[in-house]
Amino acid sequence: MRTQVAIIGAGPSGLLLGQLLHKAGIDAIVLERQTGDYVLGRIRAGVLEQVSMDLLDEAGVGQRMHAEGLPHGGFDLLFQGMRHRIDMRVLTGGKQVMVYGQTELTRDLMDARQATGLPTVYEAGNVTVHDFDTTKPLVRYEKDGQTHEIACDFIAGCDGFHGVCRASVPRGAVTEYEKVYPFGWLGLLSDTPPVHHELIYANSTRGFALCSMRSATRSRYYLQVPLSDRVEDWSDAAFWQELRLRLDPQARDQLVTGPSIEKSVAPLRSFVAEPMRFGRMFLAGDAAHIVPPTGAKGLNLAATDVKYLAGALTEFYAERSEAGIHHYSDRCLRRIWKGERFSWWFTSLMHRFPNDGAIGQKLQEAELDYLVGSRAASTVMAENYVGLPL
Ligand code: APR
Ligand code: PHB
Repeated sequence: MRTQVAIIGAGPSGLLLGQLLHKAGIDAIVLERQTGDYVLGRIRAGVLEQVSMDLLDEAGVGQRMHAEGLPHGGFDLLFQGMRHRIDMRVLTGGKQVMVYGQTELTRDLMDARQATGLPTVYEAGNVTVHDFDTTKPLVRYEKDGQTHEIACDFIAGCDGFHGVCRASVPRGAVTEYEKVYPFGWLGLLSDTPPVHHELIYANSTRGFALCSMRSATRSRYYLQVPLSDRVEDWSDAAFWQELRLRLDPQARDQLVTGPSIEKSVAPLRSFVAEPMRFGRMFLAGDAAHIVPPTGAKGLNLAATDVKYLAGALTEFYAERSEAGIHHYSDRCLRRIWKGERFSWWFTSLMHRFPNDGAIGQKLQEAELDYLVGSRAASTVMAENYVGLPL
C-alpha cells in the first residue's frame, strides 16, 4: 500500500488531521489499535476554544457542535464556601468557549471520515514506524494475522501518550519534561440536569471539585481523590455525598443526583516532549504533550498542533515548500508551553496538595481572593481560559 501521510491513532488529533488533509486533497490512511467503539467510550473534557471551533468548521464537521454545543461566557470559582463569577465575555471583549463533549466531536469526525469513504484501519496490531529519517518512511502493522506495509511521504504520530511513534525515536533525540501530581480526578457522568448553567471550579479544604456538563440533561462531575483510590472504592452515593460537601450551600441544595453512566479515575500529569518533528515523522496532540485537565486545554492544544501540521503538509504538496515543516515543532511548542503553564497554575491553585498543609490552603485562598477582586488578574485568567491567540 502507498499513501502520502500515514496517520497513527484515530483519536481527535488523527481524525481531525485526516479530515483537513482530505480537504486539501492529500491522501492519508489512519491506523488505530483499538475498535471505534473503544475510542468513543473514553470520556474526556469537552471545552472548545474559538480556535478549535473554527478548525472544526474548516474541516467541515462543525454543524452538530454549533447545534448542540453550549456556548459559555463565564464560569464560577468557588472558595471559602462562596462562588464568584469570572465573566469571560466581558473580560475578553466578547470571547466565549463551547462546551461540547470530546466523545461527540470524535463521533462527528468518525462519521465524516466514513461518509467520505476514507481508509481507517481499526484494530491495527503491532504498528511499527521505520525510516522516518529518510524521504521514504514505512509503516508496518498486523491485521487478521497478516503483516501489511504502507509506504508514505510522512508519518503523523497522533497516537496519544502511550503511542508507538514517540517511543520509536532514538533516546538521545528527544527531551521529555514531566510532572506527576500527587492526586487524581474521579469523574462521574450522569443523566441529571447540571447543578448550574455554567461550570463551577471549587477549591475546598476537602479537595478540588468540578461541576461540568454535556447537555441540559447530562452532567459531568469530578472530585480530587488520592492516587491510591480505585473507582470500585467509590459508590455513586459516596461520590454525591462528597461532592455536596465540597460545594456552597446553594449548589448543595440544587444538586440533582442519579445513577452514574460512567465513573473513572484519571491521574494528572504535565508532560512535554521536544522537539515534535523527527525527519519525516511528526508528533501531534497527546503523543507530544499532556496537561492536567483543570482548564480543559488538552483537546485545544491538540487541535492547534493539527492545524499547524495540516498547514505545513498542504504547503509542502501545493508549493513544494518545506518551511512549514521546519517550523512545525517550534510553532507548536510556543503555544503548548503557554497551555502547560496555565494548566499547571490552575491545578496548583485549586487542589489540595498533601505536603503543603494549612498554609498551602491559606495561600490559595489569598490568591483566589485577589483573582476575583482584581480586574487585571481576572482578565489574565479569562484570556487564558478562552484561549490565547494563534
Ligand atoms: N498503534 C495504533 N494506534 C495507537 C497506538 C498504536 N501503537 N497507540 C495508541 N494508539 C491510538 C489510541 O488507541 C488512541 O485512540 O491513538 C489514539 C490516540 O488518541 P488520544 O489519546 O485521544 O490522543 P489525541 O488524539 O492526541 O487526543 C488529544 O485527548 O486526552 C485527550 O486531553 C487530550 O483532549 C485531548 C485529546
Ligand atoms: C469536562 O466537562 O469534562 C471538563 C470541563 C472543564 C475542565 C475539565 C473537564 O476544566
